[in-house]
Amino acid sequence: MSILDKHRILEKNATLLLIGSLAVVTIGGIVEIAPLFYLQNTIEKVEGMRPYSPLELVGRNIYVREGCYVCHSQMIRPFRDEVERYGHYSLAAESMYDHSFQWGSKRTGPDLARVGDRYSNEWHVQHLIEPRSVVPESVMPSYAFLKSTPLKVSRIDYDLIANRRVGVPYSDEMIASADADMHAQANPDADTTDLLARYPKAKIGDFDGNPQALTEMDALIAYLQMLGTLVDFSTYNEATGSR
Ligand code: HEC
Repeated sequence: MSILDKHRILEKNATLLLIGSLAVVTIGGIVEIAPLFYLQNTIEKVEGMRPYSPLELVGRNIYVREGCYVCHSQMIRPFRDEVERYGHYSLAAESMYDHSFQWGSKRTGPDLARVGDRYSNEWHVQHLIEPRSVVPESVMPSYAFLKSTPLKVSRIDYDLIANRRVGVPYSDEMIASADADMHAQANPDADTTDLLARYPKAKIGDFDGNPQALTEMDALIAYLQMLGTLVDFSTYNEATGSR
């Protein structure tokens, strides 16, 4: 009996065909699903990554609330044109503490994965108040209200706890000092030794140009200024993912 004849038997017998189809779908399913159980192993660790500081986390919440992701991606793809424009392509580990991640693919504006340190705080304030005052052809909306909106976050520690539940390694100490850290990061006069020990490379100071008030603008700029700055690519080793 030729292979065609055998196949004909399978095609003409509904039960056999069903069993055969199920077998094929099962194998396909396992091949697709099994690697997900080992996902943890596929994200190579990279030096420098840490959870967001409380102020950065609040800034990130504002970023999500305002829908900045509708126009901005946060993932530099490993293509030459992107790397030349935005910097080293994004590593999976760089968004391992993002819940939810902000990769995206819609780029009405530029990718923001490495926007940290690219502009001054003053530039960001001016740009967020009136984008066209610094980039005349910009179609980005104005977010001037952020500067006059006091930062009202009553229980930032709950946010850290929620993130810890989904795997972000916030320690008990980080949670206990979350509120103090949130205020200290935007206060140029605060003693930030402990804050910096908990969140290395955190940018400290007044972000919105008004040291008297803690505003949503402070938090959003603290977040923007740290994006892509944690991993030191001058010492990053492609092969091992470490220094
Ligand atoms: C309607 C689309 C749109 C939305 C929404 C939007 N942007 Fe933009 N953004 C742009 C465009 C277009 C540019 C490029 C022109 C410019 O610099 O203004 C830009 C530029 C930027 C830049 C400068 C990036 C660079 O590398 O030069 C930053 C930072 C930025 N946006 C942050 C934000 C933040 C934060 C939000 C949310 C509060 C936001 N954007 C919302 C369209 C948008």
